[in-house]
Amino acid sequence: MTDSPEPAPARRLSRRHLLLGGAAAGIGAASAVGIQLAGQAGEPSASRPAGDPETGLNGALTVPFHGVHQAGIETVPQGHATFVALTLHDTVDRDAVRRMMVVLSGDAARLTQGLAALADSEPELAVVPARLTITFGFGPGLVARAGGEAPTWLRPLPAFGVDRLEPAWADGDLLLQIAADDPLTVAHATRMLLKDTRSFASVHWVQSGFRRAPGSERPGTTMRNLFGQLDGTVNMVPGSEDFEHLVWRQADNPAWLAGGTGFVLRRISMDLDKWDKLDRSGRESAVGRTLATGAPLTGVAEHDEPDFAATTPIGFPVIPEFSHLRRARSENREERILRRGYNYDDAPTGASVSDSGLLFVSFQADVDAQFVPIQRRIDTLDLLNQWITPVGSAVFAIPPGCQEGGYIGDTLF
Ligand code: HEM
Repeated sequence: MTDSPEPAPARRLSRRHLLLGGAAAGIGAASAVGIQLAGQAGEPSASRPAGDPETGLNGALTVPFHGVHQAGIETVPQGHATFVALTLHDTVDRDAVRRMMVVLSGDAARLTQGLAALADSEPELAVVPARLTITFGFGPGLVARAGGEAPTWLRPLPAFGVDRLEPAWADGDLLLQIAADDPLTVAHATRMLLKDTRSFASVHWVQSGFRRAPGSERPGTTMRNLFGQLDGTVNMVPGSEDFEHLVWRQADNPAWLAGGTGFVLRRISMDLDKWDKLDRSGRESAVGRTLATGAPLTGVAEHDEPDFAATTPIGFPVIPEFSHLRRARSENREERILRRGYNYDDAPTGASVSDSGLLFVSFQADVDAQFVPIQRRIDTLDLLNQWITPVGSAVFAIPPGCQEGGYIGDTLF
């Protein structure tokens, strides 16, 4: 089991990238709209690039759009993300879907590099990319409209006993995952992309989430969810063999998906009022890890291997049989996923003081072989189920990245 923390941004962004790419992109966009970047007044553009240690600015950092894989999967999770599912208009045919993807890819390539979108009505908002990534996913409806072969797992997940799904949060034809370290950047990019899709599709759902703001914690710190738990301790590291195999493996997927992967989003409501009633040891038993450090109940540090055989003096397992840690972990190492979730915290309804939860997002080459068995085990028995309820569910195929001059989905059309 790979159990390294999320890699620090500095490791994911090359030095050239940090010092030149981001700054150059930001400066390009700034000059295009006739404004100056903060901290650069009167200075030669290259002498003090934004994002450098002196200014402390990270708004000009960019993540490449073009490549073998789409960005936003290996990328160290940004502070904010908005997920949008669109439904194609009935009149949209194969060629129209292709045209839509050409337009979307062009604007995504520009916006992620700190440049204004083609018909940008607020170009000043484009100059702070803040590690913006835009990741596209195709639902079964879009693949059918394109006349392509869908991977066998591209369909709604099987029904689980714990599900209380609301149609308003389910499925979709096209997914946009828009993530950046700055929420204004996310809002602007979302609006620009939805203007592009307006004549092709309508918005089915929008879900926004957050993590700690960049700079609040040491890079590489595992995120905390709204139960206060460290969430993401055991995860795959980009560039590792596990990642290649479990996320990018083509497996039995159709040829157009080579370099792509599968995406699952589960909107999981977390009952914080009920969680409030649970004492600290009950909270820790539900997961099998401590709240303070995220260490397994048999260890002292976050990344210590759990000892599932350890028992208390009276013979009970230290890590309870039905803890989330035990139920989510499979003995079959093929049944692993990349988790890249976000917290949500919406306006409270009814008597509760919050409507909160997790936008549980996972990437895996084969949803049926990797995600479904984990969810089945959790469904059968998991202490955490007393406080969490899946209310939304969607599966998308993430096509590969594209090269300059190409567009996302060009392998399908
Ligand atoms: C609101 C819902 C959920 C919460 C609050 C939650 C919380 C956690 C926490 C605190 C951990 C331990 C630390 C870590 O390794 O990240 C964990 C581990 C894990 N969770 Fe969840 N989880 C949720 C839903 C799910 C779902 C729906 C799945 C998949 C179907 C899942 C799969 C996993 C996996 C695979 C691990 C790592 C297990 C291992 O140690 O091998 N979780 N989760």
